[in-house]
Amino acid sequence: MPQKTTRTLRPDAAGIAAAADILRAGGLAAFPTETVYGLGADARNGAAVAAIYEAKGRPSFNPLIVHVASAVIARRYGLWSDLAERLAAPFWPGPLTLVLPLRDGHGLSSLVTAGLGTVAIRVPEHPVAQALLAAFDGPVAAPSANPSGRISPTTAAHVLDGLSGRIDAVIDGGPCPVGLESTIVGLGGDAPTLLRAGGLPSEAIEAALGHALTQPREGAITAPGQLGSHYAPAAHVRLGATAAGEGELLLGFGPMDCDLNLSPAGDLTEAAANLFDHLHRLDARGRPIAVAAIPDHGLGRAINDRLRRAAAPR
Ligand code: TXA
Ligand code: MG
Repeated sequence: MPQKTTRTLRPDAAGIAAAADILRAGGLAAFPTETVYGLGADARNGAAVAAIYEAKGRPSFNPLIVHVASAVIARRYGLWSDLAERLAAPFWPGPLTLVLPLRDGHGLSSLVTAGLGTVAIRVPEHPVAQALLAAFDGPVAAPSANPSGRISPTTAAHVLDGLSGRIDAVIDGGPCPVGLESTIVGLGGDAPTLLRAGGLPSEAIEAALGHALTQPREGAITAPGQLGSHYAPAAHVRLGATAAGEGELLLGFGPMDCDLNLSPAGDLTEAAANLFDHLHRLDARGRPIAVAAIPDHGLGRAINDRLRRAAAPR
């Protein structure tokens, strides 16, 4: 991956405007929230979101949290409910993420949601995060701003230690006051579920709800990215194909004759941005899917991880 010059920006109007410009241009800007530093990109721009995974060296496409300035804006992306209101009213802005059913016409990249029918949304309280969201005026996808497998950053120096040369900028807003990732509550099912323990104690959430949260399946809190909630096509998927077999649809990569191509130019960032959209589109045609070989380096490793799950026997 080509080296970038990573700028350290001050948390003043000029620094925030510069970070918003970076996001508008499809770049990556890290910023402080009250929990941990986030690595932000425009959540509507598939290539920008793919670049997050590339910078972090994430070996798989976990869905990301979409950061917005207010609960009113959150409703553009997630289906609102009485339950969502009961949690958003007391705890937003703050260290709480709500997983909501996706709303029609949301406009988010399918890579942000990893092709799921739900979206994780958070309204951060940190004044620098709020100022960036106001200046950018759009949804910001942001995982913690650390290389995959390393601990979450709570200072700009931590961010630079891990990601200098891989991102465009970090806004230095000092240490994060909470220092723990947000608590994630799933509202997609019958009962609110604690998907990840975090900076907002679950007791506070239970007090607001007036009842206990449903606990997730075994192991889900320690490995929240492996929730098994990834989109899986209904169709049979065959990997490493060089041509479509009888009745199959071919998902290509690089110059080739196929039904849909992840990236005719053989670009892994473009392929990542297209992955879930293309799988959905082929799946909707109700025929088995053959997928061309994808190089197993950089973002290709995350693409192949996702494809192996899609092809696993169910
Ligand atoms: O405090 C935080 O939440 C920080 C700051 C930057 O906001 N962000 C953060 O993001 O911790 P990340 O990507 O490191 O963790 C996001 C978690 C992942 O474990 C992912 O599995 C879960 O959120 N997640 C995202 N979308 C989901 C969805 N639709 N359903 C279930 N889990 C989801
Ligand atoms: Mg993280």
